[in-house]
Amino acid sequence: MRLVLVGPPGAGKGTQAEFIAAHLSVPKISTGDIFRANVSQGTPLGLEAKRYMDAGGLVPDEVTINMVRGRLAEQDAVDGFLLDGFPRTVPQAVALDKMLADTGATLDLVLELIVDNDEVIRRLSGRRTCHGCKKIWHVEFDPTSNEGVCDRCGGELYQRDDDKAETITERLKVYGRDTAPLVDHYGAQGKLVGIDATGPVEDVTERAINELRSFS
Ligand code: AP5
Ligand code: ZN
Repeated sequence: MRLVLVGPPGAGKGTQAEFIAAHLSVPKISTGDIFRANVSQGTPLGLEAKRYMDAGGLVPDEVTINMVRGRLAEQDAVDGFLLDGFPRTVPQAVALDKMLADTGATLDLVLELIVDNDEVIRRLSGRRTCHGCKKIWHVEFDPTSNEGVCDRCGGELYQRDDDKAETITERLKVYGRDTAPLVDHYGAQGKLVGIDATGPVEDVTERAINELRSFS
Protein backbone atom coordinates (compact mmCIF):
# COMPACT_ATOMS: atom_id res chain seq x y z
CA MET A 1 0.00 0.00 0.00
CA ARG A 2 1.18 3.55 -0.76
CA LEU A 3 0.01 5.96 1.86
CA VAL A 4 0.58 9.62 2.79
CA LEU A 5 -0.02 11.10 6.26
CA VAL A 6 -0.84 14.79 6.27
CA GLY A 7 -1.73 17.09 9.15
CA PRO A 8 -0.45 20.10 11.06
CA PRO A 9 2.74 20.01 13.12
CA GLY A 10 2.03 18.03 16.27
CA ALA A 11 -1.03 16.24 14.84
CA GLY A 12 0.65 12.93 15.70
CA LYS A 13 1.94 11.96 12.25
CA GLY A 14 5.24 10.58 13.57
CA THR A 15 3.51 8.78 16.44
CA GLN A 16 0.90 7.16 14.20
CA ALA A 17 3.31 6.51 11.31
CA GLU A 18 5.25 4.04 13.41
CA PHE A 19 2.16 1.93 14.22
CA ILE A 20 0.54 2.18 10.79
CA ALA A 21 3.76 1.32 8.91
CA ALA A 22 4.27 -1.72 11.16
CA HIS A 23 0.65 -2.76 10.59
CA LEU A 24 1.06 -2.50 6.81
CA SER A 25 4.64 -3.89 6.77
CA VAL A 26 5.85 -0.94 4.70
CA PRO A 27 8.76 1.44 5.40
CA LYS A 28 7.95 4.69 7.17
CA ILE A 29 9.60 7.55 5.29
CA SER A 30 9.65 10.79 7.28
CA THR A 31 11.25 13.78 5.56
CA GLY A 32 11.56 15.53 8.95
CA ASP A 33 13.48 12.53 10.36
CA ILE A 34 15.75 12.38 7.29
CA PHE A 35 16.51 16.11 7.56
CA ARG A 36 17.16 15.82 11.32
CA ALA A 37 19.53 12.88 10.76
CA ASN A 38 21.43 14.97 8.20
CA VAL A 39 21.54 17.92 10.58
CA SER A 40 23.02 15.80 13.37
CA GLN A 41 25.59 14.27 10.99
CA GLY A 42 26.50 17.75 9.69
CA THR A 43 26.06 16.81 6.02
CA PRO A 44 25.72 19.58 3.37
CA LEU A 45 22.00 18.70 3.08
CA GLY A 46 21.66 18.99 6.86
CA LEU A 47 23.41 22.37 6.95
CA GLU A 48 21.07 23.71 4.28
CA ALA A 49 17.92 22.20 5.82
CA LYS A 50 18.72 23.49 9.33
CA ARG A 51 18.45 27.12 8.23
CA TYR A 52 14.83 26.61 7.21
CA MET A 53 13.85 24.19 9.98
CA ASP A 54 15.07 26.40 12.81
CA ALA A 55 12.99 29.27 11.45
CA GLY A 56 9.87 27.09 11.12
CA GLY A 57 9.92 27.37 7.32
CA LEU A 58 10.02 24.68 4.64
CA VAL A 59 13.15 23.33 2.98
CA PRO A 60 12.97 24.29 -0.74
CA ASP A 61 10.85 21.99 -2.90
CA GLU A 62 13.67 21.05 -5.28
CA VAL A 63 15.93 19.83 -2.46
CA THR A 64 13.13 17.91 -0.76
CA ILE A 65 11.76 16.34 -3.94
CA ASN A 66 15.20 15.08 -5.01
CA MET A 67 15.78 13.59 -1.60
CA VAL A 68 12.43 11.75 -1.65
CA ARG A 69 12.95 10.58 -5.22
CA GLY A 70 16.18 8.90 -4.10
CA ARG A 71 14.55 7.33 -1.05
CA LEU A 72 11.54 5.97 -2.98
CA ALA A 73 13.88 4.31 -5.47
CA GLU A 74 15.35 2.14 -2.70
CA GLN A 75 14.34 -1.48 -2.80
CA ASP A 76 12.26 -1.53 0.39
CA ALA A 77 9.90 1.19 -0.93
CA VAL A 78 9.19 -0.36 -4.33
CA ASP A 79 6.04 -2.22 -3.25
CA GLY A 80 4.70 0.27 -0.75
CA PHE A 81 5.51 3.01 1.76
CA LEU A 82 4.08 5.40 4.29
CA LEU A 83 5.16 8.99 3.76
CA ASP A 84 5.15 11.23 6.87
CA GLY A 85 5.71 14.94 6.20
CA PHE A 86 5.86 14.70 2.41
CA PRO A 87 4.32 16.10 0.30
CA ARG A 88 3.91 19.40 2.08
CA THR A 89 3.29 21.74 -0.85
CA VAL A 90 1.26 21.38 -4.04
CA PRO A 91 4.44 21.27 -6.21
CA GLN A 92 5.72 18.40 -4.02
CA ALA A 93 2.40 16.57 -4.48
CA VAL A 94 2.54 17.05 -8.25
CA ALA A 95 6.14 15.77 -8.26
CA LEU A 96 5.12 12.71 -6.24
CA ASP A 97 2.24 11.97 -8.61
CA LYS A 98 4.73 12.11 -11.48
CA MET A 99 7.40 10.00 -9.73
CA LEU A 100 4.84 7.27 -9.15
CA ALA A 101 3.30 7.53 -12.61
CA ASP A 102 6.79 7.05 -14.10
CA THR A 103 6.94 3.64 -12.44
CA GLY A 104 3.31 2.75 -13.17
CA ALA A 105 2.31 3.15 -9.50
CA THR A 106 -0.30 5.35 -7.80
CA LEU A 107 -1.02 6.52 -4.29
CA ASP A 108 -3.73 4.52 -2.56
CA LEU A 109 -4.74 6.89 0.20
CA VAL A 110 -3.97 10.18 1.92
CA LEU A 111 -4.88 10.20 5.59
CA GLU A 112 -5.42 13.65 7.11
CA LEU A 113 -4.99 13.86 10.90
CA ILE A 114 -7.33 16.57 12.19
CA VAL A 115 -6.59 18.47 15.44
CA ASP A 116 -7.06 22.11 16.44
CA ASN A 117 -4.27 24.63 17.08
CA ASP A 118 -4.60 24.64 20.89
CA GLU A 119 -4.02 20.89 20.98
CA VAL A 120 -1.05 21.24 18.60
CA ILE A 121 0.56 23.76 20.94
CA ARG A 122 0.02 21.49 23.99
CA ARG A 123 1.48 18.52 22.13
CA LEU A 124 4.53 20.26 20.69
CA SER A 125 5.51 22.14 23.82
CA GLY A 126 5.63 18.87 25.82
CA ARG A 127 7.16 16.64 23.15
CA ARG A 128 10.41 14.83 23.91
CA THR A 129 12.27 12.54 21.50
CA CYS A 130 14.76 9.77 22.30
CA HIS A 131 18.31 10.30 21.02
CA GLY A 132 18.74 6.52 20.86
CA CYS A 133 15.68 4.84 19.31
CA LYS A 134 13.92 8.09 18.17
CA LYS A 135 10.69 7.16 19.98
CA ILE A 136 8.43 10.17 20.52
CA TRP A 137 7.25 10.85 24.09
CA HIS A 138 5.25 13.60 25.81
CA VAL A 139 5.89 14.93 29.30
CA GLU A 140 2.17 14.81 30.14
CA PHE A 141 0.37 12.64 27.56
CA ASP A 142 2.99 9.88 27.19
CA PRO A 143 5.58 10.28 29.95
CA THR A 144 8.55 8.01 30.63
CA SER A 145 8.93 6.49 34.11
CA ASN A 146 12.21 8.36 34.69
CA GLU A 147 12.17 11.97 33.53
CA GLY A 148 14.49 12.51 30.55
CA VAL A 149 15.23 8.79 30.01
CA CYS A 150 13.64 6.60 27.33
CA ASP A 151 11.71 3.61 28.73
CA ARG A 152 12.32 1.64 25.56
CA CYS A 153 16.09 1.91 25.15
CA GLY A 154 17.44 3.93 28.11
CA GLY A 155 18.50 6.73 25.73
CA GLU A 156 18.49 10.40 26.66
CA LEU A 157 15.44 12.49 25.65
CA TYR A 158 15.73 15.88 23.98
CA GLN A 159 13.42 18.71 22.96
CA ARG A 160 13.42 19.62 19.28
CA ASP A 161 14.86 23.05 18.41
CA ASP A 162 11.74 23.87 16.38
CA ASP A 163 9.38 23.22 19.32
CA LYS A 164 9.89 26.70 20.80
CA ALA A 165 6.71 28.81 21.06
CA GLU A 166 7.62 31.33 18.33
CA THR A 167 8.72 28.62 15.89
CA ILE A 168 5.51 26.65 16.51
CA THR A 169 3.46 29.73 15.58
CA GLU A 170 5.43 30.12 12.34
CA ARG A 171 5.08 26.40 11.49
CA LEU A 172 1.31 26.63 11.94
CA LYS A 173 1.20 29.66 9.65
CA VAL A 174 3.27 27.85 7.01
CA TYR A 175 1.01 24.80 7.32
CA GLY A 176 -2.13 26.87 6.66
CA ARG A 177 -0.55 28.65 3.71
CA ASP A 178 1.50 25.94 1.97
CA THR A 179 0.28 22.52 3.13
CA ALA A 180 -3.47 22.88 3.76
CA PRO A 181 -4.09 23.25 -0.04
CA LEU A 182 -3.09 19.57 -0.36
CA VAL A 183 -6.50 18.74 1.09
CA ASP A 184 -8.08 20.10 -2.11
CA HIS A 185 -5.41 18.50 -4.33
CA TYR A 186 -6.04 15.02 -2.94
CA GLY A 187 -9.75 15.64 -2.36
CA ALA A 188 -10.12 16.24 -6.11
CA GLN A 189 -8.38 12.90 -6.75
CA GLY A 190 -10.83 11.17 -4.36
CA LYS A 191 -7.91 9.95 -2.23
CA LEU A 192 -8.34 11.99 0.93
CA VAL A 193 -9.78 10.65 4.17
CA GLY A 194 -9.85 12.84 7.29
CA ILE A 195 -9.78 11.33 10.74
CA ASP A 196 -10.23 12.84 14.19
CA ALA A 197 -6.71 12.76 15.69
CA THR A 198 -7.75 13.75 19.24
CA GLY A 199 -8.04 11.37 22.18
CA PRO A 200 -5.72 8.52 23.18
CA VAL A 201 -2.99 7.49 20.70
CA GLU A 202 -4.43 3.93 20.46
CA ASP A 203 -7.89 5.29 19.53
CA VAL A 204 -6.40 7.38 16.72
CA THR A 205 -4.46 4.34 15.46
CA GLU A 206 -7.67 2.29 15.48
CA ARG A 207 -9.53 4.96 13.48
CA ALA A 208 -6.67 5.06 10.95
CA ILE A 209 -6.51 1.29 10.57
CA ASN A 210 -10.28 1.11 10.12
CA GLU A 211 -9.99 3.50 7.20
CA LEU A 212 -7.19 1.42 5.69
CA ARG A 213 -9.36 -1.68 5.87
CA SER A 214 -12.02 -0.15 3.69
CA PHE A 215 -9.40 0.95 1.15
CA SER A 216 -7.32 -2.20 0.89
P1 AP5 B 1 8.47 17.34 10.60
O1 AP5 B 1 9.37 16.56 11.45
O2 AP5 B 1 7.71 16.64 9.52
O3 AP5 B 1 7.53 18.19 11.53
P2 AP5 B 1 5.96 18.52 11.51
O4 AP5 B 1 5.16 18.22 10.31
O5 AP5 B 1 5.93 19.93 11.97
O6 AP5 B 1 5.40 17.49 12.44
P3 AP5 B 1 5.91 17.13 13.82
O7 AP5 B 1 7.01 16.11 13.71
O8 AP5 B 1 6.21 18.38 14.62
O9 AP5 B 1 4.61 16.52 14.48
P4 AP5 B 1 3.88 15.15 14.25
O10 AP5 B 1 2.59 15.38 13.54
O11 AP5 B 1 4.80 14.10 13.70
O12 AP5 B 1 3.52 14.83 15.78
P5 AP5 B 1 4.18 13.78 16.80
O13 AP5 B 1 3.75 12.40 16.45
O14 AP5 B 1 5.62 14.06 17.02
O15 AP5 B 1 9.30 18.49 9.86
C1 AP5 B 1 10.17 19.35 10.57
C2 AP5 B 1 10.73 20.40 9.62
O16 AP5 B 1 11.47 19.76 8.56
C3 AP5 B 1 9.70 21.26 8.89
O17 AP5 B 1 9.28 22.37 9.69
C4 AP5 B 1 10.49 21.69 7.64
O18 AP5 B 1 11.39 22.73 7.92
C5 AP5 B 1 11.28 20.44 7.32
N1 AP5 B 1 10.53 19.55 6.40
C6 AP5 B 1 10.08 18.29 6.67
N2 AP5 B 1 9.43 17.79 5.61
C7 AP5 B 1 9.47 18.75 4.65
C8 AP5 B 1 8.95 18.85 3.32
N3 AP5 B 1 8.24 17.84 2.78
N4 AP5 B 1 9.17 19.98 2.63
C9 AP5 B 1 9.89 21.00 3.15
N5 AP5 B 1 10.39 20.99 4.39
C10 AP5 B 1 10.19 19.88 5.14
O19 AP5 B 1 3.34 14.20 18.12
C11 AP5 B 1 3.57 15.44 18.77
C12 AP5 B 1 3.49 15.26 20.30
O20 AP5 B 1 2.15 14.92 20.65
C13 AP5 B 1 4.38 14.12 20.84
O21 AP5 B 1 4.94 14.51 22.05
C14 AP5 B 1 3.40 12.94 21.03
O22 AP5 B 1 3.80 12.12 22.12
C15 AP5 B 1 2.10 13.68 21.36
N6 AP5 B 1 0.92 12.97 20.86
C16 AP5 B 1 0.78 12.33 19.66
N7 AP5 B 1 -0.46 11.82 19.55
C17 AP5 B 1 -1.12 12.18 20.69
C18 AP5 B 1 -2.44 11.96 21.16
N8 AP5 B 1 -3.34 11.26 20.45
N9 AP5 B 1 -2.79 12.49 22.37
C19 AP5 B 1 -1.87 13.20 23.11
N10 AP5 B 1 -0.60 13.43 22.70
C20 AP5 B 1 -0.23 12.93 21.51
ZN1 ZN C 1 14.77 5.24 23.06
